[in-house]
Amino acid sequence: MSNKRVGILTGGGDCPGLNAVIRGVTKTAITRYGMEVIGFKDGFEGLIDNRFVILTYENVSGILTQGGTILGTSNKANPFQHHVLENGKIIVKDVSDESMALYKDLSLDALIAVGGDGTMTIAGMLAKKGANIVGVPKTIDKDLVETDTTFGFDTARAIATEAIDRLHSTAQSHHRVMVVEVMGRNAGWLALESGIAGGGDVILIPEIPFEIEEIVRVVRQRSRFGKRFSIVVASEGAVQKGGEQVVQKVVSDSPEKIRLGGIAQHIANQIENETKIECRVAILGHLQRGGTPTPMDRILATQFAVKAMDLVAKGNFNQMVAVHGNQIVSVPIEKVMGRQKLVPRDSDLIEAGLSVGTSFGIKMD
Ligand code: F6P
Repeated sequence: MSNKRVGILTGGGDCPGLNAVIRGVTKTAITRYGMEVIGFKDGFEGLIDNRFVILTYENVSGILTQGGTILGTSNKANPFQHHVLENGKIIVKDVSDESMALYKDLSLDALIAVGGDGTMTIAGMLAKKGANIVGVPKTIDKDLVETDTTFGFDTARAIATEAIDRLHSTAQSHHRVMVVEVMGRNAGWLALESGIAGGGDVILIPEIPFEIEEIVRVVRQRSRFGKRFSIVVASEGAVQKGGEQVVQKVVSDSPEKIRLGGIAQHIANQIENETKIECRVAILGHLQRGGTPTPMDRILATQFAVKAMDLVAKGNFNQMVAVHGNQIVSVPIEKVMGRQKLVPRDSDLIEAGLSVGTSFGIKMD
């Protein structure tokens, strides 16, 4: 044993592949580097409340294929904005000094933070206070900058694609328009890629505000050509031109307060009104985040975990592991903080969609 200790936490919304990272980090730390691993419970909450488990080879064995995270997670916990009940009132406190004190008391040599943009931003802020941080990018939204992709995305894309495939047959039987709503927050990657893979007739993403007239035009044109059904794939963040995103819920004690949802119903109502064709809505929701990861996500998560431990062992801190082409690399975490990767208007995927006759909800050349 090297007497070195590394902490790991999973923050933000869960996604398939988190357990593969926990397993990869723990096994690599123990077998390759002789280090001890402690896992904080429920993301940054564990680093605030002093809740953790020692991770051994035995307790990470068999978790590779499991969805979720054995450590638990939280998309509310933030040591820089901790919500506490005092004298019957919720107040927001900065407890980051206390979290840093715990980091030191536990004699941690490094902390591996597995999460999305929110987690990377908090981790980067802890790095500025002296913690040795390595970030691992996860999210089904694929909206982290400085990496080609994130683990979790491939699984969510496969689930959404299968759903679109299944909706095709029922839409066809009933001569209906099906509007399927997929997650992704402000980024359209999940809708775009599952929509192209599933052959959606219209794909609506937040980056391209849509016009209902264009969707109606596509549906009517398909009817004229004998296709008496249509599939509209709508990102939860899709927005009508001149309108606003549809908010499903405001979570006031979460750093990211807005939860999107409900745009599909809004679109379906308008299509039905205009065309008199029956419309139905399918909201995939958290199904996209559950269950076993695809082989690609298991492999990526394992490669990220090994790279993260290699960085820890080399003392190369305040980095986020990333994938560039076929290479697993690392980038300064500072470059990732507070940024989101959105779909560019000139994306090859949009071009490919246009070439095969997909509409993006507005007239495009
Ligand atoms: O960021 C992942 C994600 O699943 C988004 O796609 C979605 O908008 C959000 O999290 C949902 O959050 P919650 O789990 O709090 O409902």
